[in-house]
Amino acid sequence: MANLKDKIAVVTGASRGIGRAIALRLAAEGAKVVVTATTLDGAQKTADAIRQSGGEALPVQVNVADADSVTQLFKTVMDQYGRVDILVNNAGITRDNLLVRMSQEEWQTVLDVNLTGVFNCIKAVTRTMMKQRAGKIINISSVVGEIGNAGQANYSAAKAGIIGLTKSVAKELAGRNIQVNCIAPGYIQTDMTEQIPESAKEQLLNAIPSGRMGKPEDVAGLVAFLCSSDADYITGQVINVDGGMVM
Ligand SMILES: NC(=O)c1ccc[n+]([C@@H]2O[C@H](COP(=O)([O-])OP(=O)(O)OC[C@H]3O[C@@H](n4cnc5c(N)ncnc54)[C@H](O)[C@@H]3O)[C@@H](O)[C@H]2O)c1
Repeated sequence: MANLKDKIAVVTGASRGIGRAIALRLAAEGAKVVVTATTLDGAQKTADAIRQSGGEALPVQVNVADADSVTQLFKTVMDQYGRVDILVNNAGITRDNLLVRMSQEEWQTVLDVNLTGVFNCIKAVTRTMMKQRAGKIINISSVVGEIGNAGQANYSAAKAGIIGLTKSVAKELAGRNIQVNCIAPGYIQTDMTEQIPESAKEQLLNAIPSGRMGKPEDVAGLVAFLCSSDADYITGQVINVDGGMVM
C-alpha cells in the first residue's frame, strides 16, 4: 500500500477512464482527492463513488487549457485544504488525422489541452509545493510520445512535449523535494481507445507482448507508487505501462 493518508491530491480528467481509476486508487490509499473534469456532473460522479467507498473527494469543474480556469481550481483547493501534495496531470484528448489533412484547429486544440494544460497546472501548483518543500507531480504521457504514430502528429507531439517538460521541471524542483515523473501508458481500455477501428485494434494487440490491453487500474497502481514515500528518490523518469509494447 502507498499510504497517502490525508494527502491532498488533484487529478485532472477524472470523470472516466484512467483519471477516474487514479482518483479512486489515491482515495483508497487515504488521500483526499480533488476530482476535476470538464463538466461538474462528470467530476461529481467520480467524487460520489469515492465517498461511497468511505473516502473524501471534492469535485471541481476545470478546463486545463484555460489558465484562468486552472488558477480558479487551485484557489478552490487552497481555500478548502490549504495545501497540495499530489498533482496528476491526466486530462487529454485526441483529434486524429493524417498530417496532410490535419487542420490548424486540430493541431492547436490538442496542443492546448494535452501540453499547455499540463504547463498551466504545474505552474499553478509549483509555488505552493516549493513552500511546502514537498510534492509529487505525475504527468500522463503516452508511448506514442516516444515512438510516434501515423495519424497522431498533434497528439504525439504533445505527449513528447510532456516528457521534455517533465524532465526540465524535475531538474528545477528536485532540490525542493518535489518529484516530477511521467507515465507512458500503452493501449489502455477506455472511451478514448473505444473509438479505434476493430482492424487497427487487432494490429495493436499483436504488438503487445503481454497479449492484452491494459486496464486503467494498471496505470493507477503506478501513480499510487510514484506518489508514495517509497518513490522519494525517483524523479524525471518516464515509466511505461504498456505490457511490453515499447522496450
Ligand atoms: N487510453 C489509452 O490507451 C491511453 C494511452 C496513452 C495515454 N493515454 C492518456 O491518458 C489520459 C487519460 O486517457 P483516457 O483514455 O482515460 O481518456 P478519456 O477520454 O476516457 O478521459 C479523458 C478525461 O480528460 C478530461 N478532459 C478532456 N479535456 C479536458 C480539458 N480541456 N480540461 C480538463 N479535463 C479535460 C475528460 O473530461 C475526461 O475526464 C490522457 O492524457 C490520454 O492521452 C491514454
